[in-house]
Amino acid sequence: MSVKFYKSEHQVPLEMHKVRMVQKLSLLPVEERLKKIQEAGNNTFLLQNKDIFMDMLTDSGVNGMSDLQFGAMMQADDAYAGSESFTRVKAAIKEVFGTENVLPAHQGRACENILAEAYVKPGMVTLMNFHFTTTKAHITRVGGVVEEIVDAKGLIPQTDDPFKGDFDLDKLRSRIDELGPDKVAFVRVEAGTNLIGGQPVSLSNMIAVTDICHEKGVKSVLDASLLQDNIYFMKMREARCKYMEIKDIYHLLADHFDIIYFSARKLSFSKGGIITSKDPKFTKEMMEYVPLYEGFLTYGGMDVRTMEALAQGLYESLDMEYINQGPEFIKYLTKELSDYGVPVILPAGGLGCHLDCQAFVPNMPHNQYPAGAVSAALYIIGGIRPMERGTLSEQREPDGTERYAELELARLAVPRRVFTLSQLKYVADRVKWLWDNRELIGGLEWVEEPKVLRFFFGRLKEIGYWQEKLAEKFRQDFGDSL
Ligand code: F0G
Repeated sequence: MSVKFYKSEHQVPLEMHKVRMVQKLSLLPVEERLKKIQEAGNNTFLLQNKDIFMDMLTDSGVNGMSDLQFGAMMQADDAYAGSESFTRVKAAIKEVFGTENVLPAHQGRACENILAEAYVKPGMVTLMNFHFTTTKAHITRVGGVVEEIVDAKGLIPQTDDPFKGDFDLDKLRSRIDELGPDKVAFVRVEAGTNLIGGQPVSLSNMIAVTDICHEKGVKSVLDASLLQDNIYFMKMREARCKYMEIKDIYHLLADHFDIIYFSARKLSFSKGGIITSKDPKFTKEMMEYVPLYEGFLTYGGMDVRTMEALAQGLYESLDMEYINQGPEFIKYLTKELSDYGVPVILPAGGLGCHLDCQAFVPNMPHNQYPAGAVSAALYIIGGIRPMERGTLSEQREPDGTERYAELELARLAVPRRVFTLSQLKYVADRVKWLWDNRELIGGLEWVEEPKVLRFFFGRLKEIGYWQEKLAEKFRQDFGDSL
């Protein structure tokens, strides 16, 4: 439960931890920020961390580690095979998920590569509430097809629905029947659905999906990378979860899903990746790919210190006073912006606050990349690094035409246990200024467009000279302030 304040304009989240290790930040003047984003091809992935004040690119691999995690890293056991550190990872997985079959990998997408290699054959379809970029890339690379079955409510930017990541269960059932179970590689449920704004899936919906899979003879897979935030929302928003222990929710899910995998860069505040299953049949089917792509079965590409941090971080993901911090900070930032009239994804989800850029710059066509343009603008006016999660993050269709994103989002990720509330207040303040000056934001066009995962290293330039004008207006309004 969060702490209530006696006198405060509205409820403010309170950190239940103290910061013992700090890292210096720098905020460059607006003229230099303008130069840096243009040198980075207007791609926030290509900025240098030293030039960034608020790094809100992602919550992946940048979460605050605890004293107990750092302590655990000191007892790491270096061994090519049979490391004690892996034994401790297995013990943590057993405690948290109740499963004993564990495959290690170097990060979440490596788990996806293994799943795709093991189960996706050319022409097979994987059904999911929504795709994630790396998931889709791995599945299509081996000739599979991705189909999304998210409930229609998930794509409405502003609603008050508590579980926008839910599957449309009728559609799932009828799609499996149409395809026939042999053509379905697996059904993948993404907890805390990333690309639609970190929106949770209800426990009832997850269980219903696994029941359908079971009935139809199709494998069910849970991407648990964002499960920690998702479980927070289950506890807060779903009546049946209110009095359940957090651990019981994890266990129930592991009882129902055939396979669970996650990026430990998110779940467990560390790095690495894990695949686990109750039934050893599944881990056996995937096992041979671990030494082939990752490393031996007792490290899978992870360094031993990482494994120790992962194990300890998993225990911490059972602690409400840790897992509420991200979602409550995100809710605070989202409310600040939405009260001001800035279009944001509602309700607030996990992972970060998401600006709805179709509404932010309504006259900009998809092929001038509105979410990329707003992201570049935020760096110029605030030293803030968002991530584009819109059309730029899509892959072109096989015939080369653009695939326009359902939602044009600029994501302001809030890494767990990292930022202070005043830093979020600064972000809210700069976003409000940009909203008031939004008519100055113009589009982007390609300079270099890679074929695969183009958002990672593609380079773009402004159309016209809107960025110079934006920086000038900032200078007029803020004087000599950074
Ligand atoms: N699944 C989900 C839902 C994710 O959000 C991510 C990564 C992955 C899988 C892949 O995991 O990065 O360890 O290889 N999301 C990061 C992000 C990249 O910024 O949202 P990974």
